[in-house]
Amino acid sequence: MEGPVSARPTMHVLREAAPTISVGMLTADLSRLGAELDLLARTGAPLVHYDAMDGRFCPALTFGAPVVAAAKTSLLKDVHLMIEEPLDKLAEFVAAGADVITIHVEATRHPLRALQMLGGMTNANDPARGLVRGIALNPGTPLAAVEPLLGELELILVLAVNPGWGGQTFAPSTERRLADARALIAASGRDVLLGVDGGVRRENLQAIAAMGPDLIVTGSAIFDGKNVEANARFMLGTLGAPRAGAA
Ligand code: DX5
Ligand code: ZN
Repeated sequence: MEGPVSARPTMHVLREAAPTISVGMLTADLSRLGAELDLLARTGAPLVHYDAMDGRFCPALTFGAPVVAAAKTSLLKDVHLMIEEPLDKLAEFVAAGADVITIHVEATRHPLRALQMLGGMTNANDPARGLVRGIALNPGTPLAAVEPLLGELELILVLAVNPGWGGQTFAPSTERRLADARALIAASGRDVLLGVDGGVRRENLQAIAAMGPDLIVTGSAIFDGKNVEANARFMLGTLGAPRAGAA
C-alpha cells in the first residue's frame, strides 16, 4: 500500500483504508521520533496518533503543538487533545500539521463552538486535504452527548480506557458503546468515521475490528521497545483488506 498522497482529502483516504490503525506515539523513542515514524511509514500505516495531555484534563502532561510540528513525516497526523478548554489552542495544533484533530466532549463547555471553529480552519499541510474533526468520549460519558454535535464532526472517538496512560486494559463496555455509536451515525445519515482508542493488543485486535470501527488507535502494542515495523505489519495484516476495497 502506498503512503497517502498529500492532496487527497483525508476523509477519503481514511474511508478507503478502513478499518485501519492510527499509531499512538506515547511510548515511541521520542529522541528519534522521526526515524520511528519513517519505520512506520514503510509499513503502509496511514496515521500517527499524538496524545497531547495538559496535566489537568488527565494527570499526565505530555507535549504541545511544537512536538506535533517537529517530526516531518508522510503519515497523516492524528492529534488527540486531552486538554481543558482547548478553544484557544486549536489554531496552533492545526498550524502544527494536524490532519485529524479530536477534542474531548468533557473538556469544554463549548464543544459545538470548538468544532465550528475547526470547520473554519484549513489543513496546514495542504488545504485540499481538509481537516477531520473528532469528538472523543471517556468511558464514563454517555454517547448521547455527541448526538447534538453530529452535524459538525467527521469522527467519533470512543475511548476504551481512562485517558492519561498507555498500556491499560480494553474496557468490556466498549463493545456496546461502539455498537451504539454506529447506530447513532447510521441514524444521522452523515459521513462520520468511528474510532476506538486504548487497550488494543495483537490478541484482541480481531475482536475489536469485528465491533466495526474505522480507526483503531494502538500505541504500546506497536511501540513496545522491540520491532515497530513487525508490530505494525502484524496489525495491518490482521485487519486485512480495506472494507472499501472489499466491497
Ligand atoms: C489514552 C490515549 C491512548 C493510549 C493508547 O489516554 O488516548 O491513545 O495512549 O495506548 P495503548 O495502545 O497503549 O492503550
Ligand atoms: Zn489517544
